[in-house]
Amino acid sequence: QAGLKYFGAATDTPGFRERAPYPQSYKQYDQIMWKSGEFGQTTPTNGQKWLFTEPQQGVFNYTEGNVVSSLARKHGKYLRCHALVWHSQLAPWVEAKQDWTKQQLRDIIVSHVTKVAGAWKGQCYAWDVVNEALNEDGTYRESLFYKILGEEYITLAFKTAAKVDPFAKLYYNDYNLEWPSAKTAGAQRIVRLLQKNRIRIDGVGLQAHLIAEDHPTLDQHIDAIQGFAKLGVEVALTELDIRLQTPANATNLALQKEAYKNAVGACVQVKGCIGVTIWDFYDPFSWVPDVFPGEGAPLLWAEDFSKKPAYYGVIEAL
Ligand code: XIL
Repeated sequence: QAGLKYFGAATDTPGFRERAPYPQSYKQYDQIMWKSGEFGQTTPTNGQKWLFTEPQQGVFNYTEGNVVSSLARKHGKYLRCHALVWHSQLAPWVEAKQDWTKQQLRDIIVSHVTKVAGAWKGQCYAWDVVNEALNEDGTYRESLFYKILGEEYITLAFKTAAKVDPFAKLYYNDYNLEWPSAKTAGAQRIVRLLQKNRIRIDGVGLQAHLIAEDHPTLDQHIDAIQGFAKLGVEVALTELDIRLQTPANATNLALQKEAYKNAVGACVQVKGCIGVTIWDFYDPFSWVPDVFPGEGAPLLWAEDFSKKPAYYGVIEAL
């Protein structure tokens, strides 16, 4: 596997999987996920998020996240942990009150990060400490966290995570960072903000939710990755999927293959890009059709468990 530490697939706990065409598929699914040797790493797609880990203030629940982390341990896969501070899939109690004082919200963040990162201490290759803090123009997203604390919420989350888990690499993670843009400049600004304050940040996660019909070139991928690597942090593609206009046909499947080859190829070629995670591997379990109507089939295995052209695009890139 050339320059990568791992090639992995995120997965959800069985009860959470978006679309299950038939229950027998689980058997074949689990065989590919855990036993086939296709993947060296996994990420829980949902179970470690705030909504599930602290559904009520001070009430912590690691059940869903543990399903995936124990399977990862059992089958010897690297585990990426996801995500500590994010505006989405946040527990309703946090947002129910928009007028937390600064000190209240600081305490909430410190408590959440301390407990949740503590629960998986020593098990995570990496933690996505802050997820999706940026707008497309590189300015900060006006989340509850930002509105009350400004960029201090980011430094606080990283500072706390660094204290709790000295082994996990600490990542900033976002989408549309796969080609140079105002948003990649914004993410570089976050890296420098932490470095300037001597707070540990080890990596930037490029989610890589891409579009088959309009995908980045190999060179664009390489430039974006190098922009981060230059700052002395590692890079990973953390949620790679490449959606197409459904139904799939020979043309868009070929574009998807090329897009996978570019993305994975760039990571393999740039020193400093350490791993690739696809956001599940089986099309029927993808989150895409729920969020992007008319689009789907973004992964490597089709509904009948056959390998798509995109699979061979990845193989060619590795
Ligand atoms: C998605 C999950 O895959 C879905 O099951 C869930 O309903 C919504 O979230 N960016 C992220 C991921 O960082 O956590 C999101 O995962 C996809 C976008």
